[in-house]
Amino acid sequence: MHGIYWVVRGVPLKPKSIHPAEFLLRNFLLYRILSVLCVMSGIIIAIDGFSSTGKSTLAKQLAKRLGYVYIDSGAMYRAITLYFIRNNFDWKQDAEVGDALQNIELVFGPEGIYLNGECVEQAIRTLEVSSLVSEISALEPVRRFVVAQQQKMGLKKGLVMDGRDIGTTVFPQAELKIYLFAQPEIRTQRRYNELSAKNPAIQFDEVLANLQHRDHIDSTREISPLRQAKDAVLLDNSALTLNEQLDIAEAWARARIQAL
Ligand code: DC
Repeated sequence: MHGIYWVVRGVPLKPKSIHPAEFLLRNFLLYRILSVLCVMSGIIIAIDGFSSTGKSTLAKQLAKRLGYVYIDSGAMYRAITLYFIRNNFDWKQDAEVGDALQNIELVFGPEGIYLNGECVEQAIRTLEVSSLVSEISALEPVRRFVVAQQQKMGLKKGLVMDGRDIGTTVFPQAELKIYLFAQPEIRTQRRYNELSAKNPAIQFDEVLANLQHRDHIDSTREISPLRQAKDAVLLDNSALTLNEQLDIAEAWARARIQAL
């Protein structure tokens, strides 16, 4: 069999004839090596869904079980929103959103997200940020800025990322896409419990209104609205414990890894 060219320092040598059996064996070995490398580098897992469905909790726990990196994509939109609030940036009037983004550096560290060197993991979780983040994240320059950084993070694989557009826009090639769902009243109660622990004055209706507002904007915005990707698996956790949902997601992930 002809057609195998060996190239040493750019100099093609004469075609070498090899036996078909040897050719098949070499390709098989190459295929096995590539498969092992794929398994070692891992897969990309995208978890999307409405606010307060428990995406971050699931994504964090799943990443820990698999030894993967976890990225909270919403934290990036929240950090940008915090930057706009702190700098009184009038994003509705100002056509300079793209320029303002040039002053923002987002990095993930062990404590969470850092905005220009400051850990803002707590500061981005206030109702003030939550009330504005959906509007900010619907802006085209903001999405372009964030999605480009997220796609770079995915180059190394071995990643669990949660958000709204991860399976549809950021990683349409993700090996596992989970669309997380929970009944609206359950989501509101979970969010209320979380926020009232930090701020006892918070009202249930205020939390409900905020969730409904964000659901509406996240699913109706023009660019990358929240959608269940065609190849995403639906996980309704309304009646599941954290461990139950984690076991289900882990089984799906391991099956995808084994299939590589
Ligand atoms: O997941 P979260 O609630 O922290 O996200 C905050 C907001 O950011 C959410 O209302 C919509 C937006 N978001 C987005 O548009 N795309 C993502 N991939 C993640 C979040």
